[in-house]
Amino acid sequence: MTDLESPPEPEQTPTLQAEGDLPTEAPPEEESEEEFVTEYPEEPEDRQVEEPKDADEPTDGQAPTTGSEDSPAEGFVRTTPALPRVIALANQKGGVGKTTTTVNLGAALADLGYRVLLIDLDPQGNATTGLGINHHDLDVTIYNVLLQDVNLDECVEPTEVKGLFIAPASLDLAGSEIELVTAFSRESKLKRALDEVIDDYDYVLIDCPPSLGLLTVNALVAATEVMVPIQCEYYALEGLGQLTRNVDLIRRNLNASLEILNIVLVMYDGRTKLGEQVSDEVRGHYGSRVCRVVIPRNVRLSEAPGFGQPITTFDPSSRGAVAYKELAREVSGVS
Ligand SMILES: Nc1ncnc2c1ncn2[C@@H]1O[C@H](COP(=O)(O)OP(=O)(O)O)[C@@H](O)[C@H]1O
Ligand SMILES: [Mg+2]
Repeated sequence: MTDLESPPEPEQTPTLQAEGDLPTEAPPEEESEEEFVTEYPEEPEDRQVEEPKDADEPTDGQAPTTGSEDSPAEGFVRTTPALPRVIALANQKGGVGKTTTTVNLGAALADLGYRVLLIDLDPQGNATTGLGINHHDLDVTIYNVLLQDVNLDECVEPTEVKGLFIAPASLDLAGSEIELVTAFSRESKLKRALDEVIDDYDYVLIDCPPSLGLLTVNALVAATEVMVPIQCEYYALEGLGQLTRNVDLIRRNLNASLEILNIVLVMYDGRTKLGEQVSDEVRGHYGSRVCRVVIPRNVRLSEAPGFGQPITTFDPSSRGAVAYKELAREVSGVS
């Protein structure tokens, strides 16, 4: 995929100035307090989340910093919001764990009893096939929803996991970046479609393609939150500034309810110093926006999609499964 379409043109915005302009901490007028209460009833903000074995998360990240002054993500809040929540898993880099996190966090949330819809917005359809769905068998996919105004619920498929559903992708989605360009309200196609079915779900997780094109813009316009998986490898932070600036543009111009930006560290290798260094750096910069739970590098996570299953059913006791279950608890505020 190419980045043919850039996010909304800056010239549309009247007040694109310094980061300091962001309405730090200020929730939107209508939002009542209860909607943004952090629901960690039994444990305070600095609770120690039970870590998967070997994950070796350094504890320094516990300090809920306010973020550095120039942090591009300044102004996003770190709370547990009311349901339903729509979370876009975005990072313009490929191979960083977006799909793995979408599928396995989604399955773990469903195991907690939530009604979860995954939306596969990547033409490669890895979330779709990773859940055992063959896109050749499908008459209707997210492509038809975005470009032919088919109702979203017409393409939703159940999965083997109770409470987990998916709006699948197929290869024809690859052309949609171009086809959408001339479409009416091209940035809000997904949001409009999702509005029709949102009451049926507690969580909607959107697996974005590895670009900042119109598909990702559609995801960010439909979302209330964005979650960015960061690989604990060299160059982990590369491109993150660009992503957060794009998220910010969308928040200012197209989707004021895009309130939350979280980062999740994935593919952490506790045996190397590098993982720890990257983790320290990301936490130093993004503070409490970084999820406390870290996803370890675990070969079972890479094997599960080949069997069409999330890790939670493929190997429930693996370190990968334990970590995603912990992440689901952290994200949902279940203690
Ligand atoms: N924690 C992990 N441990 C081991 N392999 C992983 C882990 N997370 C992802 N992978 C593997 O890394 C590759 C890229 O992950 P994927 O989720 O497809 O990234 P993206 O969706 O960002 O392109 C896949 O082969 C996946 O199975
Ligand atoms: Mg992917």
